[in-house]
Amino acid sequence: MIRTLTVLGAMLAGTAALAQDSVPIQPMDVNAARAELGKRMFYDTRLSGDTTLACASCHSPEMAFTDGEALSQAYTGAGHFRNSPTLANVGYRDAWLHDGRLGTNLNDVAREMITETYLMNMDMRIMQERMKQDPKYVEMFAAAGMSEPSNGGARNALMDFMKTIVSRGAPIDSGEMSDAAKRGQLVFEDRANCASCHSGPRYTDDQPHNTGVGDNPDIWADPARHSAFVTYGKFMGVENYMALREDLGAYIRTHRDETKRSFLTPTLRELTYTAPYMHNGTIGTLEEVVEFYDAGGGDDSLKDARLQPLGLTRGEKADLVAFLKALSGETFDIDAYVWREDDFDYELIEDWRNAKN
Ligand code: HEC
Ligand code: HEC
Repeated sequence: MIRTLTVLGAMLAGTAALAQDSVPIQPMDVNAARAELGKRMFYDTRLSGDTTLACASCHSPEMAFTDGEALSQAYTGAGHFRNSPTLANVGYRDAWLHDGRLGTNLNDVAREMITETYLMNMDMRIMQERMKQDPKYVEMFAAAGMSEPSNGGARNALMDFMKTIVSRGAPIDSGEMSDAAKRGQLVFEDRANCASCHSGPRYTDDQPHNTGVGDNPDIWADPARHSAFVTYGKFMGVENYMALREDLGAYIRTHRDETKRSFLTPTLRELTYTAPYMHNGTIGTLEEVVEFYDAGGGDDSLKDARLQPLGLTRGEKADLVAFLKALSGETFDIDAYVWREDDFDYELIEDWRNAKN
């Protein structure tokens, strides 16, 4: 009761009294020549075993580096069981992948993406030799202070490129929020308590929580996805992985029961471009996300106690959506992030494909 009164008081005193000040995302320190090299690699399909996928296939700049699919694309003949996450501000994360199974260096994530059989399925020893065959790479590695194309150098270059993917121009930072978004910010921070997990300038605590998001049945209906899911469960040491019919989230690395079905809090930056939502893409729109939280989240015995039915009015829900949209900035579809096609010798790539077939 006391809390409600305080909120009312603050609202009467004007919205600015309660809303937290926003903090724009700061650019990260990178080696510019290495980042430029990483950018070229990011758009190069020769980084995948059969030269069909580039990082950008699943992390497209127009969609804030996601792929717009509920469940991500995958390597030829395989299927994926997770939603492709945004790479906006990814250099600032404390842990990566929806279950947080990698958490030391961003360049480890680059290796996982390249070598994982259901992602790019690339043997890095071959990748290195492919890069040495391309004079442009030889030149760019030298410009970045490396004697020749190498796996370690390639991973660091991808890391530096990813660190340049930083949000800018969102209404929350420029102070150009609509009145609806300002009202939505108050709901977000106080009544709905969203900020207890979606905190800080990226709107994430980088921690796993169980929100009760339901499973995506396509993982088990599609043999290509299911075989990848089983491969993952087996590799991570889950018992009875053949019979598993749920994504265990952070449990996969902790093996502690209370962490079952908990997933890392995603950033809320750039949501306008990154639908569908959640680790498995099962929620299609921001309106539906707000309905999900208004109902107190999903149905799960391990659900975080902070998620309770909210009883938001129709107006409060619309304000909350307006606020979430105000966290998105300019698109990344600009020169800084896209390696132009004419910079690649696509004939060379075709030659490789033909030689393989
Ligand atoms: C075939 C699709 C696909 C390709 C190609 C791909 N990714 Fe990913 N990426 C994903 C998926 C799916 C996830 C989430 C996986 C999970 O949670 O297990 C992911 C996660 C990530 C993450 C972690 C983001 C976070 O917030 O946790 C980074 C970083 C990343 N990818 C970078 C890259 C880079 C760099 C490349 C190229 C070397 C690449 N990806 C290629 C689909 C792809
Ligand atoms: C207990 C911590 C917690 C609270 C409180 C919380 N969230 Fe979340 N949020 C999460 C987690 C964890 C996920 C990811 C769940 C998943 O992937 O299955 C998530 C996902 C989301 C997403 C999807 C983002 C994406 O890119 O997929 C949105 C949007 C969102 N939350 C908004 C909100 C709003 C609005 C509120 C308040 C009404 C809120 N959250 C309250 C932890 C929380």
